[in-house]
Amino acid sequence: MLKSFLLFSAVVLVTLAPTPTLGARPQEATPAPAPAASGAKNTVKPTPESQAKAKKLYDVDCSMCHGDNGNGQTDLAKSMELSLGDWTDAKTLAGKQDGELFDAIRKGKGKMPAEAEGRADDHMVWNLIIYLRNFSKPQPVTPAK
Ligand code: HEC
Repeated sequence: MLKSFLLFSAVVLVTLAPTPTLGARPQEATPAPAPAASGAKNTVKPTPESQAKAKKLYDVDCSMCHGDNGNGQTDLAKSMELSLGDWTDAKTLAGKQDGELFDAIRKGKGKMPAEAEGRADDHMVWNLIIYLRNFSKPQPVTPAK
């Protein structure tokens, strides 16, 4: 009796087991997080427009610590006791790869908050890097009127 009951259950289980529907697809895999950019090269070609946007974002999100001219001498940096590199000196960033700077901006570094994708997409982050590397180049002089 028990034996036939077990057999019966087995049959029921097999029949009820969900059969894969024809054409059913495995669930879409959620996209893996973007790989860390360390070692990545900056392939973005800056345009006057993209650099103007980068400047705008820099002035809002970055300059309070790093300074309008990138020298890192700001009241906020002093009050937070940050030791910030002086980007007006080309030597400061000379040894750093773009990929390192990208990671610092995207993930944050020390007391620096991460810049989220929602505020700056990858294209913008690369433009920011170009923008801040330019602090050590001769700045365009606004012609006197
Ligand atoms: C709250 C102040 C603060 C703000 C705002 C800030 N940073 Fe920073 N940033 C820092 C500090 C502090 C460091 C150095 C961290 C360390 O070396 O430990 C740093 C480091 C960096 C570095 C790495 C430099 C290096 O030598 O490795 C880059 C690049 C950078 N910041 C870019 C930016 C950009 C771009 C923004 C705006 C989107 C920004 N930061 C906003 C405080 C700030």
